[in-house]
Amino acid sequence: MANIQFQGVGRVFHQGGKDFVALEGIDLEVHDREFVAVVGPSGCGKTTCMRMAAGLEHATAGSVRVGGIEVKAPGPDRAVVFQQFALFPWKTVWANIEFGLISLGVAADERKRRIEHYIALMGLGGYEQAFPHQLSGGMQQRVAIARAYVLDPKVLLMDEPFGALDAQTRVVMQEELVRLARQHPRTVLFITHAVEEAVYLADRIVVMSRRPGRIREVIDVKTVREAEQWDRLSRIEDVMDQGSFVHLRTHIWKLLREQQGDAAH
Ligand SMILES: Nc1ncnc2c1ncn2[C@@H]1O[C@H](COP(=O)(O)OP(=O)(O)O)[C@@H](O)[C@H]1O
Ligand SMILES: [Mg+2]
Repeated sequence: MANIQFQGVGRVFHQGGKDFVALEGIDLEVHDREFVAVVGPSGCGKTTCMRMAAGLEHATAGSVRVGGIEVKAPGPDRAVVFQQFALFPWKTVWANIEFGLISLGVAADERKRRIEHYIALMGLGGYEQAFPHQLSGGMQQRVAIARAYVLDPKVLLMDEPFGALDAQTRVVMQEELVRLARQHPRTVLFITHAVEEAVYLADRIVVMSRRPGRIREVIDVKTVREAEQWDRLSRIEDVMDQGSFVHLRTHIWKLLREQQGDAAH
């Protein structure tokens, strides 16, 4: 596994002959096997941060490192899950999950072992030979998540992976991701604009402010989750009922609302 480090990261875009500062002074370390969620208003630069860690976008200031190595381009040490499922439509579920493993040169018996493990874990049993268009959005996103985890990457980068799902499917996926994350702890950078989702899933939450995107506050959830033993509750609505959960959620909402106030002036 590995950590992700943002050091003094900034990003300026040039638009219509003008410079536009999208991100400024981002300092953040996602520790080895830590699950960090980033929340913030639309346009504050969440996706840009993730794309920098993925090597799909470059910083105009500072550096992004994964496992101590500066990110310059996409690589197999980083698996990405996007909001739009981005599966190969012409490949079966099995072949979609297998594709990256073949590229990495993983032997056939080992591929089979790993794929079977994640197919079972993500509840995809019986759908191995189905094609993406035959699956619901939730099922497609299970495939995308299995495809990322099966590579055993050093870090996982997820950009609003449940953003396109209906509310009920979303809850099921959140519960499954929690199970997966506790069973297979990985270094995860998880972008969302859903506050409850962040509190439920993350060890720490980064709250960003808008224009230019900066880190407003970093909130430790893990200490609270462990002290209050949220993991003994299997349903998200029961976790969300806990006073400690409500307290964190309200605090984050307050931070986000303050920025709405800023934007209005
Ligand atoms: N390639 C680009 N060219 C110009 N502006 C961009 C580009 N990518 C993102 N932006 C701008 O940077 C800001 C941050 O975008 P983004 O990272 O997508 O925010 P978020 O994911 O938090 O909604 C937005 O104002 C967006 O319009
Ligand atoms: Mg985004």
